Amino acid sequence: MAIRAMVEETKIGAEHLIYPIFLEDGKGIKTEIKSLPNNYRWSLDLLIPEIEQCMNLGVKTFDLFPAVSEELKDQTATYSYAEENFYLHAIRKLKESFPEIVIMSDVAMDPYSSDGHDGLVQDGRILNDETLPILAKMAIAQAQAGVDIIGPSDMMDGRVGYLREELDAKGYTDLSIMSYTAKYASAFYGPFRDALNSAPKSGDKKTYQMNPANKREALIEAELDFNEGADFLMVKPALCYLDIIHLLKENFNVPITAYNVSGECAMVYAASQNGWLNYEATMSEMLLSIRRAGADGILTYFAKDFAQLLKR
Ligand code: PBG
Repeated sequence: MAIRAMVEETKIGAEHLIYPIFLEDGKGIKTEIKSLPNNYRWSLDLLIPEIEQCMNLGVKTFDLFPAVSEELKDQTATYSYAEENFYLHAIRKLKESFPEIVIMSDVAMDPYSSDGHDGLVQDGRILNDETLPILAKMAIAQAQAGVDIIGPSDMMDGRVGYLREELDAKGYTDLSIMSYTAKYASAFYGPFRDALNSAPKSGDKKTYQMNPANKREALIEAELDFNEGADFLMVKPALCYLDIIHLLKENFNVPITAYNVSGECAMVYAASQNGWLNYEATMSEMLLSIRRAGADGILTYFAKDFAQLLKR
């Protein structure tokens, strides 16, 4: 046993985990997501004790996503930087309540867009360049709220450089950017879109998310993001893309992260609820494989449960 532990090549701790959390406006809300059991849409008041538990387990980094009510959505995502935005308010409050917390934000139009797309839609097309100033307004509002890591999940071309410049110009030179670099047009995002009710109203995301068949293209995307000033490069999803994680780790000397997405976690929840797979063992093996492939950090819905398991 001791020798096995001595020569164990891959270590994983709570410090490697980033916990994605869904936030909703209001009070007393903790609604389980049907297609992602064990995960909830939280209002801030109930989320605070949950965050405290996570922090005590050693999970200190959270990626927050807003579930915005339909009537606040519009074509240009104006609510994303509105003064009264509950998500921005929650970031402020969490930073005040937990001095050690690390908060990552989401930069993309889909939670706020009446079209359900990450970019601006006109006549059924996504307008890349016209989307960039909207993303920058969103990012600056999040920076003002006190976020630590900006997470552009939108996949528009040139947005890392654009955000970096705009943030620097406003004095946010210390704020890091974790770019969704190799984000594939995946079927594994379903439960996430259920959680935010953010599925595209028409079309799909294949004009801006990557083709799952492509590997070399990930190197191009990574080079662009790296040159534009990304502090972390992310691969998403994780499990079907372990080769891409490995590829980026071998080729870029910045931290590599992987997003163990909703559909990947949902498979484990579903099978274990049926008694077909052992929850703790499969979750551990998945997370270990993502680390072994080369991920420094992992975004995963298992974060709290896995940290709890490590404590035992
Ligand atoms: C969209 C976004 C998605 C996820 C994170 N940000 C879904 C999508 O691209 O449609 C998916 C995360 C998950 O499935 O857990 N900006």
